[in-house]
Amino acid sequence: MGTLPRLYLSRPLPEPTLSILEGKVEWSAGPASGPITRERFLSGARDADAVVSLLSDQIDAELFNRCRRVKVVANYAVGFNNMDLAAAEAAGVWLTNTPDVVTDATAECAFALMLAAARRLPEAEQALRAGTWEGWTPTHFLGLQLEGATLGIVGLGRIGRAVATRALAFRMRVLVADPDASGAKTMEGVERVSLDELLERSDIVSLHCPLVPGTRHLIDARALARMKSGAILVNTARGPIVDEAALAEALHSGHLGAAGIDVYEDEPRVHERLLSAPRAVLAPHIGTSTMRTRVAQAEKALGDVLLVLSGQPPRNPVNRPPSPRR
Ligand code: GLV
Repeated sequence: MGTLPRLYLSRPLPEPTLSILEGKVEWSAGPASGPITRERFLSGARDADAVVSLLSDQIDAELFNRCRRVKVVANYAVGFNNMDLAAAEAAGVWLTNTPDVVTDATAECAFALMLAAARRLPEAEQALRAGTWEGWTPTHFLGLQLEGATLGIVGLGRIGRAVATRALAFRMRVLVADPDASGAKTMEGVERVSLDELLERSDIVSLHCPLVPGTRHLIDARALARMKSGAILVNTARGPIVDEAALAEALHSGHLGAAGIDVYEDEPRVHERLLSAPRAVLAPHIGTSTMRTRVAQAEKALGDVLLVLSGQPPRNPVNRPPSPRR
């Protein structure tokens, strides 16, 4: 066993997938839950030839310097804003992600938040459980009907398109703005507009762009003020795309009608003013949380680990080191 390459998993992966490692690598994993300190992560990865990381692990020069055997870090996520691509290239380390398999689960989560926020589901359920429901009335928990409403999608990549497909099936009008000029540009049935026009015309704005320097606080106080009074913001992309304090204020002031949020600026911390904001539907970053997706992500990440460890390039690289570590 001592001659097998070593893999460090930042967290244990869904059981059924680990069998593909049998006889090929020796693996160990961090804790299944609870916080992982930076030191614990780095010491877990110290003697590893490969690492499967989470979006909360910083993958940077310090890791590559301290863990000299690491040849590949496979991010168990589609977003890779936690990875320093240039440092990995300089160190000769492959970085990979898990695109495609997360698309439908994330689009479904965006829709769940959209429906919950628009139809005031958590608020209505709480009233029922609190025993304050006195029976059906014509004015009870009036919400926004998705059919006929305008949805603004920011970022028309894979997930943005999957949300657009669902929105068109709900007979919504769909506007699209893409802050990333290299993203997929168009799609039948949607109208491309500038971000400002999208903010001004949409009843619901849903974010699907990656977190890059140009999208940090893309939705700030100014952008929120541009949104229609009573509009809804949905974020299943990355927390720092939204100025969380400004969002909380826009909900407290009543300017925004509601928000459906799955991602936060400083996870797992959630801004106190957002926790107390009216009509904020808050989920704990569960966009890709279905068994099918998480198994498919594991298969992708582990498949790439095995390819690199056998001297081949990975299938889902996010960088291209000129001289990969051997
Ligand atoms: C989850 O947030 C992911 O990027 O896959």
